[in-house]
Amino acid sequence: MRTRKLPPVGWIGAGRMGFEMAARLAKGGADVLVWNRTREKAAPLQKHGAKVADQLTDLASREIVFCMVSTWKDVKEVVQKLLASNEKPKLLIECSSISLEGSAELRQLLDAKKIQYLAAPVSGNAKVIKAGKLSFVCSGPKKAYERARPLLNLIGINSSYVGEGELSRIVKICHNVFLGVVTQSLAEITVLAQKAGVPRHAFLDFLNQSVMGSTFSRYKTPAFVNLDFKVTFTPHLLRKDMDLGLDAGRRFEVPMPLAAATRDLIQSMIGQGWTEQDFATLLLQQAEASGLKLKPENVEVGDGLS
Ligand SMILES: NC(=O)c1ccc[n+]([C@@H]2O[C@H](COP(=O)([O-])OP(=O)(O)OC[C@H]3O[C@@H](n4cnc5c(N)ncnc54)[C@H](OP(=O)(O)O)[C@@H]3O)[C@@H](O)[C@H]2O)c1
Repeated sequence: MRTRKLPPVGWIGAGRMGFEMAARLAKGGADVLVWNRTREKAAPLQKHGAKVADQLTDLASREIVFCMVSTWKDVKEVVQKLLASNEKPKLLIECSSISLEGSAELRQLLDAKKIQYLAAPVSGNAKVIKAGKLSFVCSGPKKAYERARPLLNLIGINSSYVGEGELSRIVKICHNVFLGVVTQSLAEITVLAQKAGVPRHAFLDFLNQSVMGSTFSRYKTPAFVNLDFKVTFTPHLLRKDMDLGLDAGRRFEVPMPLAAATRDLIQSMIGQGWTEQDFATLLLQQAEASGLKLKPENVEVGDGLS
């Protein structure tokens, strides 16, 4: 029954996030046509019932098109290619983490073609998506949000509508500045506790049960304890978001001393060539700066997700 009511969907971008989001949509019964620049990355989505397009323009006839790529430059590039088609979707839902200015420029591009636009960045990594716990923050016309909502509900656990225009972009930027600062702070206190003699798993066990523990501190615990830094989010993407935060701080004249210091600590990680692992390698950098050589503790710890 539900499948018949869902509109046909086009999906741009099958990276770490886009892949899992499209998979949930397809598994939920939506008719999804996916395009990814590197086609083979999208191919496994076929086992969930999605179709894979050869051309980006094949998605233009879909009623709703999602976009999940990297930066504003990339969003602009794919949307311009999509708009080169004779057909056009009715609604574009853009989920990448981009600037307020980029989002406003995108709205102008789409308005000119009479395509509705919902800015819908997300909170959560690929594992969070798989666990069904992704959340969206949305802005744009309320009607666009209502139209998108059944699909957003299939992908994640929550969507918050925060108002017109690009407001969701500033919410997401604030969220990721917090992510960077909290991760650096967690690295500092974990290294401090360890250097004073407390094993990381014991320290984090206490922290996670305390009022300061969070979904985030719990799901980063396995990485911190056992030093598994398989990428969930790259240092480059986090630096992009810290820069977006500092740009917004300048624009609105808000001092952000903690964000500025954290941004530079991420920069030093990138400068050292630590770019291919998860951004949680901030822990390793902090340990190095403290004269501590970390080893995996090889203790089984939960991530609070499964
Ligand atoms: N990872 C997280 O935890 C997380 C959480 C929340 C939000 N985000 C945001 O979500 C977005 C995606 O992140 P991700 O971790 O999924 O990144 P990712 O794994 O690097 O995937 C990026 C995707 O964008 C595509 N892409 C990039 N530039 C392109 C271009 N110029 N033309 C066409 N396709 C292009 C890539 O295609 P190819 O496969 O061909 O490279 C890939 O599908 C980013 O804006 C990020 O800040 C990430």
